[in-house]
Amino acid sequence: MNMTTKPTNFVLFGATGDLSKRMLLPSLFYLDCDGLLPENLAIVGAARSSLNHEDFIALAHKSLADRSETIDEKAWKRFSARLHYSPVDVGAASGFEALGALLDEIHPGGDHLFYLSLSPDFYTPVCAGLQAAGLATAGSRIIVEKPIGHDLESCRTINASLLSAFSEDRVFRIDHYLGKETVQNLLALRFANILFEPLWNKAHIDHVEITVFETVGVEGRWGYYDDYGALRDMVQNHVLQLLCLVALEAPAKLDADAVRDEKVKVLRSLKPITGHDVLTQTVRGQYADGAIEGHDVPGYAREAGGKPSDTESFVALRAEIENWRWSGVPFYLRTGKRMGKRLTEIVVQFRAVPHSVFGGDGKNDLIPNRLTITLQPEEQVSLALMNKTPGLTEQGWRMNTLSLNLSLTDAFKTHRRRIAYEQLLLDALGGNPTLFVRGDETEAAWRWIDGIAAGWKQTRMKPEPYWAGSDGPDRAESFWCKGQPK
Ligand code: BG6
Repeated sequence: MNMTTKPTNFVLFGATGDLSKRMLLPSLFYLDCDGLLPENLAIVGAARSSLNHEDFIALAHKSLADRSETIDEKAWKRFSARLHYSPVDVGAASGFEALGALLDEIHPGGDHLFYLSLSPDFYTPVCAGLQAAGLATAGSRIIVEKPIGHDLESCRTINASLLSAFSEDRVFRIDHYLGKETVQNLLALRFANILFEPLWNKAHIDHVEITVFETVGVEGRWGYYDDYGALRDMVQNHVLQLLCLVALEAPAKLDADAVRDEKVKVLRSLKPITGHDVLTQTVRGQYADGAIEGHDVPGYAREAGGKPSDTESFVALRAEIENWRWSGVPFYLRTGKRMGKRLTEIVVQFRAVPHSVFGGDGKNDLIPNRLTITLQPEEQVSLALMNKTPGLTEQGWRMNTLSLNLSLTDAFKTHRRRIAYEQLLLDALGGNPTLFVRGDETEAAWRWIDGIAAGWKQTRMKPEPYWAGSDGPDRAESFWCKGQPK
């Protein structure tokens, strides 16, 4: 493995937070179990809480115990020996100085990899604090979580702060969807098979649907979420990344610039949805009280103690990409919380055959091919094909649809389903930014999102209520293409 052997401190800001406990510490541990962490890597938790070293070790142990019943004792011994803790209030210089002193003690002259599992409001102060304390050294890197800002302007401010302390190739902007096996598999499916690419264009594809539905609500994150809503929390990043991978041109090779150049071109080709267009090209929704899997769940406003809010927890959009490959092909995007089922799925709806040789008496109407790539909860690719229904043909042929199914979950049963962060952390440690979002990409995405947000404001478009446990607001039903090509 091409991984630096220089002593490195992995500094986790927000170490006591939810993401750290649920995803980051377990991911680091699993990488360690597989022998993928460099020997001389120290993991330093940094957060406002005044924990001591033992408290942090106990917190890390609990976060692993909460995920799995058994913890390999030998692996834990090695992992826990890497752990350190430094209380840091990111608003005060003294915290960074104390952190610097600890890092120097652990690995004098070592490199640092900073992970900011914090609200984006803290990115600028943390960059300033690291710089002032002399920690943003030439060999160090920084990882930041999405969303990068709240709009284009704040995104630019954050990017400028990051770049004032680290060069672009040392900034790793995480979109954890890019760490998911099935999301990476989109590139494999498109570019490792000859079948799809010749058909992958407006001549043969009628429309594309991208769905990211969750059953969870905003839970304990109301404060953050109410300021962002589904458009900024999910569409700006995860949903647009999926769209990019479906729509991009073949990169010359799988390297960071080649892939990200192609993604930026897609984002810059998105037709703006602005002003009154939002009334016809978008749907906003907010969940009301309802039931999921037989359990009553409170509506969005009730989750915050009855505080009224105009924030959307559901969005559906009709996007268009203005380039030669995709001009005129709608990309239907939708995402929502508290939906009836958890589902992340991409549907590529092909056009109808130009002429049916089987007659058109209604019995033999051909249903156009449909490629469905399911990412969550199961990993599956299926292709709906027309077939002849077995039987005698004296009254003509009967046709029906059958699916070719490729279940990745079954095909790779023996493989542990990894946490998306494992791949991303490994890449950041190894300095490979291909699966991270470049600064210009974040800005291109925000430019398009800002147009929609401004349109909603201008037209005073409020979210429509939908029952928790449903498929979204009524209007989303008619808005969503039902898969019947024109
Ligand atoms: C996060 C969003 O980025 O992604 C959350 O902030 C959302 O609101 C989550 O729940 C969904 O991720 P996953 O991996 O569960 O689909």
